[in-house]
Amino acid sequence: MTTVHPPTAWDVSEYDFPRHGALTDKLKFLVNYAVLAPSLHNSQPWKFAVRADEIRILADPTRQLKVADSDARELYISIGCAIENLLIAATYFGLYTSVTYFPDAHDELLVASVSFTEGAGAPSLADQERFLAIGLRHTNRQTYANKPLTENDLQRLGASVREPDVALQVSDDTHLKLAVNALVVSADITQFADPNYRDELNNWIQQGEFGYRWLISRMGQLATTYLASHHKPIKPEADIVINAPLLALITTHADDRCSQVKAGQVFERLALQATTLNIGIQPLSQIVQVHELKPELLRLFEAATEFPQMVFRLGYTDIATDETSRKAVDAVVIP
Ligand SMILES: Cc1cc2nc3c(=O)[nH]c(=O)nc-3n(C[C@H](O)[C@H](O)[C@H](O)COP(=O)(O)O)c2cc1C
Repeated sequence: MTTVHPPTAWDVSEYDFPRHGALTDKLKFLVNYAVLAPSLHNSQPWKFAVRADEIRILADPTRQLKVADSDARELYISIGCAIENLLIAATYFGLYTSVTYFPDAHDELLVASVSFTEGAGAPSLADQERFLAIGLRHTNRQTYANKPLTENDLQRLGASVREPDVALQVSDDTHLKLAVNALVVSADITQFADPNYRDELNNWIQQGEFGYRWLISRMGQLATTYLASHHKPIKPEADIVINAPLLALITTHADDRCSQVKAGQVFERLALQATTLNIGIQPLSQIVQVHELKPELLRLFEAATEFPQMVFRLGYTDIATDETSRKAVDAVVIP
């Protein structure tokens, strides 16, 4: 059996799924969808060990951003995003899945073991939609339309949260947006004052994996931060946080690795659902990377007893088409 690899990661075609092949070949094919997941700075901190009827998902600590993500929290969130894609693709191709998180209590790098069984039958319409969104989802850093999200769309997004220990808070309150924007400014000032943070960012930018849009967007945010910190007026349309129709926060009841992975799964489910509704989504992670700012963030979203995992903006917008690079599947599948 020859494994089919698309020209770029985003060109993966469901028609290349080895429908009549061995289960292992099917599982290898699913990895093509797992790697399209978002990850902090496109770090892709994952490895996949494909067995006869199981995929083990491992953390790759060499891909951790040691300064921005010093406790590797966002590394585990990113892996959660990849696990979610894997499960969605498996369901689409008629496979049952069963996930065991951290099967070895002594090995934090072995994040999950997913076992697969054939015979699940045709996917539901919702499953098909979610699957098709995997190849269309991109972090959307454009300006979003100044239009509130409909009640129906809000409900569909809310339905993405299925884990009892993960919660989603949303707000369109102007005061909250102003306060969150102040946190973004404060986080940027703190991070860029740290030479280690600047060095790390520089290294990752040189690797060229963030993509051009990320750089432009970060520059725009920094210009806003600079002006705000010097009490200079900011062009209203330049302020992506204040202009966002909706701000959202994913929190967890605990801050262990498993909760972080599940927060990532919820984030990816939301991002895929948003894609199907022409809703853009962009994380604003600097706030949760500066630990001192977390209590204020939680206070603003009235979630003081929770742990903040992902903060992001949402709004109707043109579908983003920027296809960020991915490592070759062969480079992340290990024996
Ligand atoms: C945990 C996590 C944190 C992220 N933080 C930010 C962020 O602060 N700002 C941003 O613009 N994108 C952020 N992203 C999006 C990544 O930069 C993006 O997923 C990656 O560059 C790959 O691009 P894609 O999502 O378009 O496939 C984050 C993604 C994850 C999973």
